[in-house]
Amino acid sequence: MPKRLAKKVAIVTGASRGIGRAISVALAQEAATVVLAARSIQKLQETADQVTKAGGKADIVVTELTEEESIKNLVKTTTEKFSRLDILVNNAGVTHSAKLEETATEDWQRCIEVNARAPFILCREALPLLKKAETGYIINIASVVGVKGYPLQSAYTSSKHALRGMTISLAEELRGSNIRVHLLCPGGVDTDLVQKVRPDIKKDELMQPEEIAELVVYLVTYKGNAVIDELHIRRAASAPWF
Ligand SMILES: NC(=O)c1ccc[n+]([C@@H]2O[C@H](COP(=O)([O-])OP(=O)(O)OC[C@H]3O[C@@H](n4cnc5c(N)ncnc54)[C@H](OP(=O)(O)O)[C@@H]3O)[C@@H](O)[C@H]2O)c1
Repeated sequence: MPKRLAKKVAIVTGASRGIGRAISVALAQEAATVVLAARSIQKLQETADQVTKAGGKADIVVTELTEEESIKNLVKTTTEKFSRLDILVNNAGVTHSAKLEETATEDWQRCIEVNARAPFILCREALPLLKKAETGYIINIASVVGVKGYPLQSAYTSSKHALRGMTISLAEELRGSNIRVHLLCPGGVDTDLVQKVRPDIKKDELMQPEEIAELVVYLVTYKGNAVIDELHIRRAASAPWF
């Protein structure tokens, strides 16, 4: 069977581990070229090796998502090297766990910067290239906290609500264009991040990063008239509709 993402170019942020690494490898299994963005060069190299082994091509762009120039450089490098972009996955994220009254402004700011400001800048910078694609895809990874509120997570929750709001507006702006905009709202996934905020969830009840990655591949390979705006993805052990 021909690979469905051959010749397609994707940017994946937060590609150095967790869900971002799984998404990168899953796209590579369909022969995509994946531009891997995060800060840790060593971990990015590990992902790049897995991408190559899976049948895709990898390119590393070390990126600090709190810095606008670094985000712009990610798109500039992609443009210079590949002259195209088909898929943008805004996956990178940080969290903070504390009561609101004990949350430092800097912790709030960091969540907003990485989880909401960076995807905004990246969407803006990438849109000219995505508009040239046959079909372009923007996949924003929010969270269950993008539609709900949780105690001890006010900074994280605010940032994901902001990301969701931006995504809805952008989808409206791009309605009728060649670009499809999707939001994924997962519950607990077995990564470093969940260990920090929900160590109470049993490991064997968490979802695997590959399960989220499979859904991304589904969205970026679907060609029909049906469009899924938002996916709520929960652990089987958690309450329906979160
Ligand atoms: N795990 C869950 O239960 C869960 C549930 C719902 C939603 N999510 C969302 O899914 C996404 C991925 O989460 P994960 O669980 O895979 O987390 P993770 O394992 O902690 O990975 C986070 C990724 O973001 C990158 N990153 C963090 N800060 C960055 C910065 N300033 N500049 C550039 N890259 C940065 C990290 O790379 P470096 O450290 O190398 O820079 C890493 O690749 C996040 O948006 C998260 O909010 C996760």
